This record gives sequence, structure tokens and C-alpha cells, in this order.
Amino acid sequence: MHRRDFIRVLGGGAIFAATGCAPVGSDPRAAWDNPGAGETDPRRKALSWAILAPNPHNMQPWIVDLSAPDTITLHIDRSRLLPVTDPFNRQITIGCGAFLELLVQALAQQGRAAGIELFPKGEALPRLDDRPLFRVRITPATEAVRPDPLFAHVPARRTNREAYAETPLTAADVRALAGATGPETGAAIAATIDPARVAALRIQVYDGARIEAHTPAAHRESVERTFIGARAVAEHPWGISLDAPAMTAMNAVGLLTPEKMAIPGTVAFKESLKFLKTGADTARGFVWIITGGAGRRDQIAAGRAYVRGNLVAAGRGLAMHPWSQGLQEYATQKPLYDQLHRDLAPNGGRIQMLSRIGYPKSGIRPAPRRGLAAQLKDV
Ligand SMILES: Cc1cc2nc3c(=O)[nH]c(=O)nc-3n(C[C@H](O)[C@H](O)[C@H](O)COP(=O)(O)O)c2cc1C
Repeated sequence: MHRRDFIRVLGGGAIFAATGCAPVGSDPRAAWDNPGAGETDPRRKALSWAILAPNPHNMQPWIVDLSAPDTITLHIDRSRLLPVTDPFNRQITIGCGAFLELLVQALAQQGRAAGIELFPKGEALPRLDDRPLFRVRITPATEAVRPDPLFAHVPARRTNREAYAETPLTAADVRALAGATGPETGAAIAATIDPARVAALRIQVYDGARIEAHTPAAHRESVERTFIGARAVAEHPWGISLDAPAMTAMNAVGLLTPEKMAIPGTVAFKESLKFLKTGADTARGFVWIITGGAGRRDQIAAGRAYVRGNLVAAGRGLAMHPWSQGLQEYATQKPLYDQLHRDLAPNGGRIQMLSRIGYPKSGIRPAPRRGLAAQLKDV
């Protein structure tokens, strides 16, 4: 495979015409179509929205227990973790915080309050176990419960990894993002569009991605969770989904495969890093989430704050893309981890998430979901 062939195909050339786009049976994005429609149980209705939460590598490690009346209990599927890049399940817990936030919003939409009990059987440390992360008791519907205006943006929320437009963010964008936290989340959102800081962060986030790519176990973990082509994505509606027509075409002719992405020096490996570099270089600002502590409750709070920020961004037509490598706990990221904390949290605290932000050049499709039925605990 030559680099110029790869680029020609990325531009949507002849190979796509030759291979076409194989029709696939089930739509991996069906969960986004009118979520909860037809559900009569208010819990299932709300959960149909909660499963649209951002979550690391789109592992969707959620197991929901509905066996107790008016109660939703969340457990974790320990076969869907990220043991190398998320050794203490910090990020997986953040994803559960995002899930909880959307759940609470979707219940409020039905006029129901959520009585939240975090870690009702204790916090699992240093790793999650089979104990629940939270239990939510729902109240009968009442007009006293006010819907959250951010809920309107759930269908448009995305993780957008594409290059961003040159359009600058405004000071009003930054203020709106920083003000996105709910009254009880316990995590702060900070944002910058300062050119010098943005320039430094562009280099740092790309460094994190490059370090990960050259840390074999960490890189392998991502590659093993990457599915390329329409058919592979339909069969695996989770993980990192590369099923745009050009990707499907390149995969069909063997130019772009997870195996090739895994090997440094291949064109697939180099082009993946180049794609990330373009993403970093077109960051128009950065947003990060800080918590005072580093416990499980802080992680849940961080997830709630992150998705609220992501919803504010979606409402303003902004795109967001987390870059988590430099915040991760494995050894090769340590110097960058320390630097990011010195730069972004000089007064202390744990940076839980760091994302680039900008106006998108065009819309993107939502990420696949496994669907609610796949995540309900058998009782
Ligand atoms: C804690 C956390 C860390 C994440 N880190 C990254 C990251 O480093 N790079 C990335 O491209 N996406 C990252 N994401 C975004 C997820 O990959 C994304 O939410 C998931 O693929 C589902 O896509 P969606 O957000 O468009 O629904 C992260 C999300 C969360 C909650």
C-alpha cells in the first residue's frame, strides 16, 4: 500500500465505486431515533436516553437492574473495561456519571424527581467490582419537577473527531461552557481560547496521542476496540466505529485494517496519527473538568459536568472531542500528566477530562449504541 493510494481513497476515489457499501441488517445507530418512543415504563423511557451518554471508547459497560419497583440500579459490566489505559476504572466511572446526568434529565422531562444514592454498597477501590455504582429511586410525576433546558440538545450531542473550522469561539461561548455545571455536580468546568494556551495545549494533547500510539499495550487496547467498515460496525455497535464510506471502502480492499493500524510504520498507523495531528492543530479552544478530590464521587461528578458542557456546546453549534491520554495513569504518560496538572490545575485538584473544542466544518453521524435491551440485567 502506498501513501498516495491511501490518500486517493480517503478522498473518495474509484475503489469506493468498485466495492460500494454493503447493505447491513441492523442499524447500529437506531437508538438515536426517537429514544424511548413506545416505552410505557418511565424508567425504560429515561434509560433509552441515558444510554446515549458519552463514555470511554464507547464501551457502554452499563448493566441496569430494574427488579426493584420504581428503582434503577446501575452495575458495571467488567468485560467492557479498559484495563491498560484506564487501570483504576476512573474514566469508566466518569462515563457512568454522564449516564446518570442524562438519566436524571430524562426523568425530569417526565416530571419525575430522582432520589440518587451513589455507591449504596460502598465505593469499589482501587477497581470497580460487582457492587452498584448508583441507585435511583423515582417519584410519581409532579409538575414541581422542572425539565432541564439542556435536555433538548441530547440528540445533537456528539464526540466530533474531525478537523474544526477556523471560526473562533467567542467569550460568550467560554462563559456558557464554564457555567454548564449543575448546582450539585461538585466538578468545575474551565475553558480557554487564549492563543498562547491553545497553542501549548495543541502540542500537549497530540503528544499524549503519540505517546499512546508508541506504548504497545495501550495502543493495542484501542486498536482491539476499533471496528472498520459498515458490516463490522453493524456487528459491533460499540467501540470506535470507522464506517464512513471511504473507511469502509479502504477496509474492503485491505488498505485500512485494525491489524495494520496496530503496527508502527505502516501507512495506516502513520495516517491515523496524522488525522489526530490535524484534529489537534484545528482546536480553537480547550475545555477541562477539575474535581477537588480523586474519589469515585468526584469521577461521577466529572461525568455529569462533562456531559452538561457537551450539551451546552451542542446547543451553541460547537463540536467537542476529549483527549484523555495525558490524563491517564499508565507510566509513559506520567511526565505529560504532571505537566498538564501544573498548567491547568495550579491550585491543585484532579483534571478528569480535557477536550478540544471548535465550530465543526460539517455535521457527523452519532456513534453506535448497543440498545437498551442489551443492557438490562436478566432477572
Ligand atoms: C471519560 C471519557 C474519556 C474519553 N476520552 C476520549 C479520548 O481520549 N479520545 C476520543 O476520541 N474520545 C474520547 N471520549 C469520547 C468517547 O470515545 C465517546 O463518548 C464515545 O465514543 C461515544 O461517542 P459519542 O460521544 O459521540 O456518543 C471519551 C469519553 C469519556 C466519557
